[in-house]
Amino acid sequence: MTIETITILTGAGISAESGIATFRDPGGIWAQYDIEDVATPEAFARNPELVLDFYNMRREKVRKAKPNAAHHALAKLQKSYPGTVHIITQNVDNLHEKGGAEVIHMHGAHHTALCAACGARWPAPPAMALHDPCPECGQPATRPDVVWFGEVPYHMDRIGEILQSTDLFVSIGTSGAVYPAAGFVRLARAAGAEALELNLERSEITPLFTESRHGPATELVPAWVDGLL
Ligand code: OAD
Repeated sequence: MTIETITILTGAGISAESGIATFRDPGGIWAQYDIEDVATPEAFARNPELVLDFYNMRREKVRKAKPNAAHHALAKLQKSYPGTVHIITQNVDNLHEKGGAEVIHMHGAHHTALCAACGARWPAPPAMALHDPCPECGQPATRPDVVWFGEVPYHMDRIGEILQSTDLFVSIGTSGAVYPAAGFVRLARAAGAEALELNLERSEITPLFTESRHGPATELVPAWVDGLL
């Protein structure tokens, strides 16, 4: 089968070797914080300072981080592959962009701020403060431009179309614990795609893939890309 369109889904595992903690590995972010305290709209309504501190701290970590060999390999693939390469990320860091790739941020991004009143977006300041005014409408309604639990991920219509027309779906560094991203492999396979998982270890959704390779992303991803190009 000719592979014209490749769709790649990335998760926290691709940034782990850049020093950004994953969520569900031992010592990961959800071992240190409760989702209900920092990653829901209710948490922001109840204790906005705590939520802003959490994202300010993570934004600062990401600001200093550098893309690794896996991010660079995907950027190379996107530039050099004779077909189309879509990259969808659940990550809110900008390491794909720093590595030179174009990505769809389905869970939002640290590097933009969002106005909860008018929906405007602008480059996030290094530290967001409570009641920061929106540069468009002036309302004190600035929030992190990230998708919290209970909110609908971004770009879902476009992602649905991409998954319908892909020949190969590749999942990199994600546990398959969070929907809708965890369901993308099923949608792609139902539309006729092959599916490859590249992850440190078996994930909850490994059996849904046609092939799985296990190891660190900085080794698996460049090797896979070199094999394709
Ligand atoms: P998880 O922390 O759930 O999973 C990370 C996956 O990466 C695990 O399967 C690890 O085995 C794997 N991994 C760790 N280090 C790796 C490495 N060096 N190379 C390759 N794989 C490695 O992170 P996600 O699946 O991205 O959402 O989590 C999905 C969503 O849950 C996140 O976007 C976030 C989180 O709660 C929201 O906050 C809405």
